[in-house]
Amino acid sequence: MWLLRFLAAQLFLAFIVTALPSNAGRSSSTTTVSIVKKYGYPIEEHQVQTSDGYLLTMHRIPYSKNTGDNGHRPVMFLMHGLLCSSSDWVLSGPTNGLAFILSDAGYDVWMGNARGNTYSRKHADKSPLFQPFWNFEWHDIGIYDLPAMMDYVLYHTGEDQLQYVGHSQGTTSFFVLNSMIKRFRSRIRSAHLLAPVAWMGHMESPLAKVAGPLFGQPNALIELFGSAEFMPSSKAMELMGSLLCRDAAISQVICTNVLFLMGGWNSPYLNASMIPDIMATTPAGCSINQMFHYLQEYNSGHFRQFDYGSSRNKKDYGSKTPPDYDVAGIDVPIYLYYSDNDYFASLIDVDKLRMTLDEKSLKRAYRLPEVKWNHLDFLWGLNIKEILYDRVLEDIQNA
Ligand SMILES: *[C@@H]1O[C@H](CO)[C@@H](O)[C@H](O)[C@H]1NC(C)=O
Repeated sequence: MWLLRFLAAQLFLAFIVTALPSNAGRSSSTTTVSIVKKYGYPIEEHQVQTSDGYLLTMHRIPYSKNTGDNGHRPVMFLMHGLLCSSSDWVLSGPTNGLAFILSDAGYDVWMGNARGNTYSRKHADKSPLFQPFWNFEWHDIGIYDLPAMMDYVLYHTGEDQLQYVGHSQGTTSFFVLNSMIKRFRSRIRSAHLLAPVAWMGHMESPLAKVAGPLFGQPNALIELFGSAEFMPSSKAMELMGSLLCRDAAISQVICTNVLFLMGGWNSPYLNASMIPDIMATTPAGCSINQMFHYLQEYNSGHFRQFDYGSSRNKKDYGSKTPPDYDVAGIDVPIYLYYSDNDYFASLIDVDKLRMTLDEKSLKRAYRLPEVKWNHLDFLWGLNIKEILYDRVLEDIQNA
């Protein structure tokens, strides 16, 4: 039986993998290191192993070329979103890239990379070419990757505390971490969450509307096959692109990038001169379970652990349905930044998050006045420094 299952899983994986190369598999010359070097800032790579064996790469800008290596620098930890990587924070260059802005402001900037993305595709004894490597989702990023990386950063720098910035899935995994593992409450001085994603019942992504009813069910497929890397076929993407992007003025190339298909392509804030670099670094790879878990949330309206179907749920969780994440119990100072035109973090879902968070924990919830600002604009939007990052920096400094 196990042999059959193994073969089926490999077949399933091979089918998906051969369908399309994601950027993760390509050797691209545009990397976090090359971008930071290009702008003349110092850059370090650090590798850390999680307690379940994944080898993750962190990128660090220890100090700014403009300030030099002197004085005490508090630690910032930046965590990217779904299908993204540490390059998110540097792609837009020294003026608008958050990593550079923080570095210039005197911070020691560390950027995480979740298991499965371009920089974190290694494991102590599993190969990413085989299915068992991909048996993970963002719950695991929250309970394994974030603790491993943040413990390393604190140990390495000798600091007692760090400050956290997350985007999208980087906020989801933050909520997972702090509702599951309480010891980080004293280690995180403040958390600044961009486009925060917890509840997803009102997600407006057109892709979710199509895929939700299909793949957001308790997951029997996963039971049978195990998980796989999420790499949609280029044919399917082209089709989606032509269906969904017909009326958009922006070139088809954006529309066929899965990231834009999910996050929205209709933003007036998209900086066209960044498109080649964005295309070169995303999608950065993830497990298909990460998608399934989000779609389950869309369907169920709950922010809770992965639904494996009632029999395995009973075994794993002791109940037919998965347990909810205890967001109300999170005891870390939190700042939220959200917008009206965000397909993933819809206003209703963010309201639910705001109302659920303990009022002592929620320091500020900032709704951007730019009504067309979308999910990806939180990384790369035009004039993002004036619109968003100056405020984030001020909150970080005052936290
Ligand atoms: C657009 O992106 C480029 C980097 O590709 C950056 O140098 C420029 O400042 C950005 N423009 C705005 C207005 O944000």
